[in-house]
Amino acid sequence: MARVAVVGVGAIGGYFAAQLFRSGHDLSLCVRTPFDRLVVESGEAEQRVEAPVLTRPEQAVEVDWVFLATKAHQSAEAGDWLSALCGPETRGVVVMQNGVEQVERVTPLVGTTAVIPAVVLCGAEALAPGHIRHHGYSELKVPAGALSAELEALFEGSEAKIAPQADFVTELWRKLLQNAVASPITALSGCRLGVFRRADVQVQGAALAEECVAVARAAGASLGPQDAGAVLEGLAAVAPEMGSSMLYDRMAGRPLEHDAITGAVVRFGERFEIATPVSRSMLALLAANSAAAERRAARGERTEGDAGEKARAGRVA
Ligand SMILES: NC(=O)c1ccc[n+]([C@@H]2O[C@H](COP(=O)([O-])OP(=O)(O)OC[C@H]3O[C@@H](n4cnc5c(N)ncnc54)[C@H](OP(=O)(O)O)[C@@H]3O)[C@@H](O)[C@H]2O)c1
Repeated sequence: MARVAVVGVGAIGGYFAAQLFRSGHDLSLCVRTPFDRLVVESGEAEQRVEAPVLTRPEQAVEVDWVFLATKAHQSAEAGDWLSALCGPETRGVVVMQNGVEQVERVTPLVGTTAVIPAVVLCGAEALAPGHIRHHGYSELKVPAGALSAELEALFEGSEAKIAPQADFVTELWRKLLQNAVASPITALSGCRLGVFRRADVQVQGAALAEECVAVARAAGASLGPQDAGAVLEGLAAVAPEMGSSMLYDRMAGRPLEHDAITGAVVRFGERFEIATPVSRSMLALLAANSAAAERRAARGERTEGDAGEKARAGRVA
């Protein structure tokens, strides 16, 4: 039995926390918005997770493994949790976040503890604090190595699969490619993925995909035009009522994860002197929307007009 802690018990943190509990570990849930007990629904099944819910970093002690599952832009705020949970015996901090800069983002927050980036292949939704619905998939891709073997052992007996990757850089950028196309277009249009059936939207999607692939290749990923095409074909073929988490954040009036996704394409483009004009335009609009959400949150307002209600009711125009 290992001592494990999950910081940020939303959709992804809640689902993987339930898997760690199922594997029989000594689990702590480190949360911002308190709840009594974590409940995870999956199909007809419901799992109740009998683990302590901590609301202040002062309540935390050193553990063997930390799983960080806040949104990327919430990482720094979770720094006090990471300081309290990491110590000489900690094997690593697994960062379950989108983007390609997990290590750069989290290393300054954890001192000498190893940071393990994970590509999250899982569909989950936070229905309310501590109440998660799992929609499908249950895999974490991690860099192959000694720690990946330990992680495989850690999840033994659960539904979660640890998939060690020899070419992790390519997998990281493959996931970013999907997000860099789907997230800005759904969030800015206010439409679900059915919007990719429009020819004019496909043109913008193709431009985003080409920019991301060019930057990814410069960063060392083995991606090519066929991967850009596959993403667009996939998005046009999925169930049209599916959304993206950036769309849901936008409709609920929450700050967006734009910097870790579209921002990464633009940043790496600058580093490698690759032009990313379409990503850059979308980034400016996403940043403006996110800043407005932050201002509303600072004033204590949760949503923009009735958009949040519409998102919760699934009535996205
Ligand atoms: N959901 C998916 O299907 C999915 C799939 C693949 C990848 N991802 C990625 O996984 C990451 C997590 O996404 P998510 O969908 O799980 O987001 P989420 O449901 O919004 O969960 C984030 C959680 O972090 C908590 N949090 C924020 N700041 C905190 C702090 N300082 N201390 C403690 N807890 C804090 C939030 O608490 P509050 O309740 O107070 O806001 C929330 O419960 C993102 O990078 C996302 O892009 C998600």
